[in-house]
Amino acid sequence: MNIAELLQQPNLNRVHLGQELYSLCEERGPQYLLEELTDFPGKLILKGEEQLPFLLRIDLQPYLPPKATGKMLLHVFYQGDGDGLHSHPVEWAWAKILAGDGYVEQRQREDLYLKGIEPESFERLPGNEVAFNFLQSDYEILHRVERLKGPFSMSLFQNGPRKDPEEWKIVLSDRSIWDMSQDQSYDKPFRSWKEVEHLLPDVF
Ligand SMILES: [Fe+2]
Repeated sequence: MNIAELLQQPNLNRVHLGQELYSLCEERGPQYLLEELTDFPGKLILKGEEQLPFLLRIDLQPYLPPKATGKMLLHVFYQGDGDGLHSHPVEWAWAKILAGDGYVEQRQREDLYLKGIEPESFERLPGNEVAFNFLQSDYEILHRVERLKGPFSMSLFQNGPRKDPEEWKIVLSDRSIWDMSQDQSYDKPFRSWKEVEHLLPDVF
């Protein structure tokens, strides 16, 4: 069964899909996954003054509405997040690292981070499943990918329900707050990512 057929299966389950994609990466390499997913919609987010590739996001379930709860995506990070810690517009998310050398993630409660308490660091390695419970009852958990441990990190990613309101922000290390909804690069729709394929670093 190829990946497109796998993704069409009813009752697609993230744990099962994660195991299948992880095995395919081990057997055939991460490039194979991207080749199989060339016809899926995606977008490449560029970052910084030099606009270098930061994150490739491919929609694995384009038949679901863009903000559907439980929608799964393939993420390829080419660099870590920028300064500060950020929230997400969803209540929770889940990821399984499929390929690469992993990354170091930082997390902290928003209320504690705003008081000046530094984040905790966690090493995330290929094969790890990572649960993100961004929204707690009294506070939010902010995070960031502090640094990649290699030239890329590929993961299967699943979004939970959208927050109401859909707040999305970065608390920078000087504790000033940046509203992410003002950053138009994140609002670009998913479309054919073949157009940006030539921008992707040769990292596999
Ligand atoms: Fe994030």
